[in-house]
Amino acid sequence: MLFQGSQDAMQRAALAPLGRYMFGRDPAAMSLLEVAAGTGRFHTFIKDNYPAMATTCSDLSPYYLAEARENMEYFDEFNSVVEPGRRLAPTRFVQAAAEALPFPDGTFDVVMNVYLFHGARAGRLQAGPPALAPLMPAAPPSQQRCRRTRAPRRRRRWRAC
Ligand SMILES: C[S@@+](CC[C@H](N)C(=O)[O-])C[C@H]1O[C@@H](n2cnc3c(N)ncnc32)[C@H](O)[C@@H]1O
Repeated sequence: MLFQGSQDAMQRAALAPLGRYMFGRDPAAMSLLEVAAGTGRFHTFIKDNYPAMATTCSDLSPYYLAEARENMEYFDEFNSVVEPGRRLAPTRFVQAAAEALPFPDGTFDVVMNVYLFHGARAGRLQAGPPALAPLMPAAPPSQQRCRRTRAPRRRRRWRAC
């Protein structure tokens, strides 16, 4: 599916949990980190929806990161044409491995990733998304559901007919 033209739509699906988390919050007072942002396409979607939010784009590869920076510059220009007067908050670009992010705990309100953990080899990134959780401040219990990245698995019961 991913390689048959649905990448954008699949990435956009990640805006839904973000939207639920952002509901009632002031984007200008929030900060977001996207880990392993690749060429930064999804990052432009984030910026398009939350232009006032200061964001950080990280990736292991300096080449991808350079591409992400270029894409954001392009999006900034595009934005100034189609939405004159709408200013984009700054985006930082940081080259870093997801296993060793150079940010103190609690730095970001939101940490996101699309398409990294599926490719993690055994023993690397094995803690998965929960390893990124300390970068965000502890959420009160009422919000903790929004931070869960994966629904608990349901056991399937097979019945003999
Ligand atoms: C499949 S691409 C996804 C890129 C982007 N998130 C997207 O949805 O288009 C995987 C990205 O993860 C980056 N990457 C791979 N291993 C990484 C690691 N250990 N830490 C940080 N980034 C990593 C790669 O450089 C690449 O940009």
